[in-house]
Amino acid sequence: MNAVVEIPTVDHDAIRRQAESVACPSAISAAERETLVARIKQLLIAQNAVLVAHYYTDADLQLLADETGGYVSDSLDMARFGHQHPAQTLVVAGVRFMGETAKILNPEKRVLMPTLEAECSLDLSCPAAEFSRFCDAHPDYTVVVYANTSAEVKARADWVVTSSIASKLIKHLTDKGEKIIWGPDKYLGSYVEQQAGADMLIWPGSCIVHEQFKAKELVVLRNKHPDAMVLVHPESPPEIIAQADVVGSTSQLIKAVHDSAAQKFIVATDNGIFYKMKQAAPDKILMEAPNAGIGATCQSCAHCPWMAMNTLQNLATTLEQGSNEIHIDPKIRDKALIPVQRMLDFAAGLN
Ligand code: 13P
Ligand code: SF4
Repeated sequence: MNAVVEIPTVDHDAIRRQAESVACPSAISAAERETLVARIKQLLIAQNAVLVAHYYTDADLQLLADETGGYVSDSLDMARFGHQHPAQTLVVAGVRFMGETAKILNPEKRVLMPTLEAECSLDLSCPAAEFSRFCDAHPDYTVVVYANTSAEVKARADWVVTSSIASKLIKHLTDKGEKIIWGPDKYLGSYVEQQAGADMLIWPGSCIVHEQFKAKELVVLRNKHPDAMVLVHPESPPEIIAQADVVGSTSQLIKAVHDSAAQKFIVATDNGIFYKMKQAAPDKILMEAPNAGIGATCQSCAHCPWMAMNTLQNLATTLEQGSNEIHIDPKIRDKALIPVQRMLDFAAGLN
């Protein structure tokens, strides 16, 4: 019989304090923006580099990625694009796990990030040693981790997933009779459990941005706009997910805005996504799901403080100096590649 190992607790207050200590980037003038954009465009060409940005990054970075043959997408597609693109240098604007995933898939390429300090509360909530101990205590379980984890945690996993394919993968494994450890997002984990009819051991991590959405205030907003469709990222708490018309990854939510006949949307995810949603459907009305109210903190602006650390300034500096390069111990990288590649193969099979 396995030794009983309790699911460890996560120090959510410490993680929240760390997020609150991140300074908001200062605004730049139109002239500064123009100069920086021109410089970055030249540097991308000179360095044979391509910019891959997440939907939550600043609109300036998303525009630049689009204008320079780069890519803006969700975490799964960012990994796919970087892997297929011929550029020798990938510049990943997002949070650190996204740069690490790019490096895991492309060890021969140089992977740079505008900053290496852009954390993710899910990654922070799941230290590799503790997680590994927990998995060791349950050797008969299949370990599935969300992409929002360190390379070390991925190296301990059997599968990596992103929110866009999580329910399908868990259903696939459950149908095969596998017992599953899920880490680290407890909200995504319980949503996926319910969707797939699974019963998993779930690590208690959470996203500091999505857990700020407020259920009662969302009811009030929905009553005010009964014609609005509610779009929710599954990192949100169950009381928010329960009010959703569509639950999905960032790409799936943008697609819903484009495809749906609705004209109004209440969006429960990071507001960086509004840039692409407006592009997808310029005439539609987008509203942020309420995230203030009782218990709100300065992180309640529906914008990830770590995503906001990516700026035109630090992108230009990174390209000029070749700084902020991602390095991963080759042994960890080789192990982490197995579940990451499984994820890509599984996703390709779905298509
Ligand atoms: P996506 O996989 O939907 O892009 O989500 C990544 C993320 O960090 C959401 O908070
Ligand atoms: Fe992590 Fe949440 Fe930021 Fe996404 S929004 S990168 S899950 S902290």
